[in-house]
Amino acid sequence: MAKVTERLGGALAFGGDYNPEQWPESVWPEDVSLMQEAGVNLVSVGIFSWALLEPAPGQYDFGWLDRILDLLHAGGIAVDLANASATPPPWLSHRHPESMLVDVDGVTRNYGGRQAFCPSSAAYRDAAAALTTAIVDRYAAHPAVVMWHVHNEYGNHNWSCYCQVSAEAFRKWLQRRYSTLDELNSAWGTTFWSQHYYDWAEVLPPRTPAYQTFANPTQQLDFSRFSSDELLDCYRAEAQIVRDRSGLPVTTNFMQFWKPMDYWRWSQEMDLISNDHYRFAALGPDGATHDLAMAADLVRSLADDAPWLLMEHSTSAVNWQPRNPAKAPGQMRRDSLSHVARGADGALFFQWRASRAGAEKYHSAMLPHAGTDSRRWREVCDLGADIAALADVAGSRTRSRIAIAFDWHSWWGVELDSHPSVDVDQMERVRRWHRLLWQNGYTCDFVHPDRDLSRYQVVLVPALYLCTDDAAANLASFAENGGTVVVGYFSGIVDVDDHIRLGGYPGAFTDLLGIRTEEFSPMLAGDVVPLTVSPDLDYGPPESGEGDPPVGSTWSELIGRVEPDVEVLVSFAGGQWAGEPAVTRRVLAAGRGSVPGSAWYVGTELGTDLLAGLLVKACAAAGVQPVLDMESWPAGFDAVVREDEHTSYLFAFNHGSEAVPLVCEGTDLLTGKPWDTGTSLPPGQVAVVATPLVAAP
Ligand code: GLA
Repeated sequence: MAKVTERLGGALAFGGDYNPEQWPESVWPEDVSLMQEAGVNLVSVGIFSWALLEPAPGQYDFGWLDRILDLLHAGGIAVDLANASATPPPWLSHRHPESMLVDVDGVTRNYGGRQAFCPSSAAYRDAAAALTTAIVDRYAAHPAVVMWHVHNEYGNHNWSCYCQVSAEAFRKWLQRRYSTLDELNSAWGTTFWSQHYYDWAEVLPPRTPAYQTFANPTQQLDFSRFSSDELLDCYRAEAQIVRDRSGLPVTTNFMQFWKPMDYWRWSQEMDLISNDHYRFAALGPDGATHDLAMAADLVRSLADDAPWLLMEHSTSAVNWQPRNPAKAPGQMRRDSLSHVARGADGALFFQWRASRAGAEKYHSAMLPHAGTDSRRWREVCDLGADIAALADVAGSRTRSRIAIAFDWHSWWGVELDSHPSVDVDQMERVRRWHRLLWQNGYTCDFVHPDRDLSRYQVVLVPALYLCTDDAAANLASFAENGGTVVVGYFSGIVDVDDHIRLGGYPGAFTDLLGIRTEEFSPMLAGDVVPLTVSPDLDYGPPESGEGDPPVGSTWSELIGRVEPDVEVLVSFAGGQWAGEPAVTRRVLAAGRGSVPGSAWYVGTELGTDLLAGLLVKACAAAGVQPVLDMESWPAGFDAVVREDEHTSYLFAFNHGSEAVPLVCEGTDLLTGKPWDTGTSLPPGQVAVVATPLVAAP
């Protein structure tokens, strides 16, 4: 991102997708002058313009793109230029029907929407490569262009294809993973249900729809891996063409927790990480605000803590949910700056000017249908001024001592069919644990469980059903070296091939946790089981007679063996396992810096107070505190710190309805005025308080 920031004169990026091809050229000069008025300094151009740029195979029409890039440059607006491969033109799909996507039922998904191509199609890949080459050759030296936007939201609509071409590509992928059929048979457990393969040609994508029978689970898991890799290959090929011709940074926009794409792998291939985030109305206002924070925390982690770019969000309503509420006054500002707080060095929108035609004409934009005499436009201009005032923040980092271990392969594995309970959902558990930390003022990263954990003091493992040997060893060594690990139920159950780890659950963690579960018993929807909480847990509200009664739901299990050095913090007080442990903690020998590590296990779905109390307790025991020292974290209050060598930037957001006094001193960059400690942040408001860091003596 630093290279882009430099081209923007050190400013944070502000702007959005700009689709000038949807408008007569006579509108363009007005666009540029309104962009200047709003403080726009970066726009993404050409994302969906393949059909206009290449009207017939190999015939390019770059005239309009030349003119708009020149105009933008003259207006001082930089460009994130797309290679336009996101949606092939109808002529390509029409000439190459085999390039279209086929779903699990064998139905061809035709063109007329977007991304209607098979990721393995040679016709698509060749045409996308030729187009990319032509665009980069033409514009690599254009002074407006500061970065490259390859494709758009890979796999949003075509995350997997079941056609013949894909079947062949899947076999090749499998041959690279398993050099022999014997290995494949063993990994897929094909002795079960007479599935043994004798010839590679017999191997297929999992075309068995779930309503018929259960497809082989490892075949399904490998198909998810293949499908993510296949689109990653498309990206790699196009990015390579760009890199061969231009030294500018290359990205493609992610969709945070998008199940089909393993973004840990994808992130390795980006020069800068960018992301699109939209509020989901169904989550409710507080849930959607939390979702934003969680998404941004993931994206920062994918960027390995480096600044990233918010490529898209919305100024107000979207068009693709069943009901699309507008953003209330101040909501857009809080949303945009929340991404910045969590490490974004820019906030861009979809899109600049609201469309008149097409499927997204009811999607909000920076310049609404109503024009400039509108509240939305005024808020956009005000936000442009805020973003400009935050230039000093560029390059600084948001740091966390807590991380949630997260793995896409586990996600694919845990949500396969024929499991103990349909209620065991990876994202719901991750979301819940993250939200409780967020509501209590802790900043939290995400981390791949195989990667270096040494920057953390606490690693939470709410849901890691599939756990590789490396990940198990990594987490154990983290705890042995003084780290705190908290593991949620139905984690560590299977290995990389989705084979059960034998000898008692959770097989990957039995040694670390000092427990051994014999049997699971998921609970029926709505059922709860009473729990007895040990006074040692001392978790807060219920002791004062407030809060939820301690109950478990969703899941119970028989932890039949507990090692002598393991404390039982919570037990089942009813149900079939009455009297047996439900939550345990093992304190390990003192590790790094003589802090003893600890390994906690949560064997049922705890109520909110108890789970929050337990997580806060685990953090406190590890020496990790909330961002601000407050007696209790106010409802709807969010605070995050970005830091560089010289300055700490406290971003404080009051999404709630009561004023919140802030204990910090410095200058509020948004107003330019001093911030005295104890000054209250009014409801709906944001402050970014810059405080010089005093060098250690
Ligand atoms: C995605 C796409 C955009 C647009 C928006 C609408 O993020 O990348 O092209 O469709 O959704 O919200």
